[in-house]
Amino acid sequence: MSASAQNEHFEELSASEWFYRNRDIAGFTNPARAIYATVREILENSLDSSEMIQVPLKFYLRISRVGEKGEDREETLQVHAEDNASGVPREKIASAFGRVLVSTKYRLRQTRGTFGLGGKMALLFAQSTTHQPFTVKSSVGGRHPIIEYSMMIDIERNAPKILKRRRHQNPHGWHGTVVDLTTRGDYNHARSKILEYLAKTSIASPYAEITFVDPDGLLYKFEPATDQMPAVPGVSKPHPVGLDLEMLRRLIAASKTTNLQAFLCKHFQRVGPITAKRLLQSAGIHQRRDPHKLDAAELLQLSNAMNGFEGFKAPDASCLSPIGSKQLEAGIRKQLDPEFVATVSRKAASYSGFPFICEAGIAYGGKIQPARIDRVPLIRLANKIPLLFDEGGDIARAAADQVNWHLYNVEQEAPIVVVTSLVSTRIPWRSAGKEMVADRPEIERELVNALRECARQLGRFLSRRAKVAYERKRLGVFEQYLPKIATFATRLAGKEKVPDVKPILRQIAKYGYEDSEDSDD
Ligand SMILES: Nc1ncnc2c1ncn2[C@@H]1O[C@H](COP(=O)(O)OP(=O)(O)O)[C@@H](O)[C@H]1O
Ligand SMILES: [Mg+2]
Repeated sequence: MSASAQNEHFEELSASEWFYRNRDIAGFTNPARAIYATVREILENSLDSSEMIQVPLKFYLRISRVGEKGEDREETLQVHAEDNASGVPREKIASAFGRVLVSTKYRLRQTRGTFGLGGKMALLFAQSTTHQPFTVKSSVGGRHPIIEYSMMIDIERNAPKILKRRRHQNPHGWHGTVVDLTTRGDYNHARSKILEYLAKTSIASPYAEITFVDPDGLLYKFEPATDQMPAVPGVSKPHPVGLDLEMLRRLIAASKTTNLQAFLCKHFQRVGPITAKRLLQSAGIHQRRDPHKLDAAELLQLSNAMNGFEGFKAPDASCLSPIGSKQLEAGIRKQLDPEFVATVSRKAASYSGFPFICEAGIAYGGKIQPARIDRVPLIRLANKIPLLFDEGGDIARAAADQVNWHLYNVEQEAPIVVVTSLVSTRIPWRSAGKEMVADRPEIERELVNALRECARQLGRFLSRRAKVAYERKRLGVFEQYLPKIATFATRLAGKEKVPDVKPILRQIAKYGYEDSEDSDD
């Protein structure tokens, strides 16, 4: 060992310390992004939790300035958020909010949270910029009391530090969570993104009622468009494809099964005794071996065989919770107020052993502003989270760019908005900030298909509308001249009574003729 290496100081970071030092990857890049990410993480936790108990979310958020509005872009902000969701069991409150990488969402099912990190990053950021404790008040309802913690995160130990704990009566069985924190941020520069985020969330989760009071005292209300909740995502066992060596090793260590074939059937979805046997044959390992006694080379052999084996059925999609075609339409109508909407929710598909569902919507006309079709305006959703940044590198942009809009009668400049939604137990994020979905050919294909299905509906609507417009014009000409011809012809024939031209107009009209009031009788 060289002398310099010997003098090197080795040090271990706790999980919270590491994430705090690397907060950029969780989206806390600058003061504006920090307050935006704070809102986003708190709301996403409330949405996840309300879907779990199937109670339409009522979410109240207030951000206020501490002190006067200063010259600085950065200011001290107080964030108060309330929900009526599941609440957190009292013995879990401290670690759910005070320990990074603690989560109820590590199991294989679809949620917005992924890393056991989001809410805590907001708290860590708040604490390290203002040195103030935060408060969490929560109850799971029923006869349970309301527990209130005033706490901080001990960053070096990655542990909650409780400063005050109070217990309140809960006579009405209230359930939900209230979070209060003091943080630094730049609200003025975050305002438009926060409002855009809330509006788009209300498209993706149209059952939610979101109320927001901003630091200038302005009230924004996003009303629900439906009371239908999306299905509760189930928990599923892992699919053998896509499982890495380390996960396989851990599953074996945790299992009591001493027979490899039985182990595969018990711990994986889509594996029955026959599939397990064929898989083990392809791996060259005997089916009755004890999984705990496999050596490193055999483990690798098994893991490779699992990933290469083609005899598995597609992964189980019951762990997914898509928005749903009707709900997506309701959300789009409520927020965008268009003339026409088409939505689809595709069947489940899979990539690398993870199930996913693509959904899409196209809104046209009405209150939508015209935009250039070669850069069609896009609302991207992933696990029902709106993505507002880094659109250029996202798979949805690539998919939308593959649609040839002219084929569907869309003009060069058109009042159109395209919505894409991808739900999966594992969204292939490009970063922990969760803003960009990486490309996977299977997902891209499904997105393009979903968009084309909607585009075909739009195409039919537009061509019918064009025909109707053409017919109206044609009928207008007849309407104008037929009475004149009739009068003239009557006079020419030396008759008194001018015949009624309406029956003729009715015959000519392909899309129905309505007697307009100003037509002469
Ligand atoms: N509003 C809430 N309602 C119910 N549970 C919550 C709420 N906020 C946070 N939690 C719990 O705290 C855990 C940690 O949250 P968070 O740090 O955001 O990580 P993640 O969402 O990735 O799990 C969640 O898994 C959840 O169990
Ligand atoms: Mg979260």
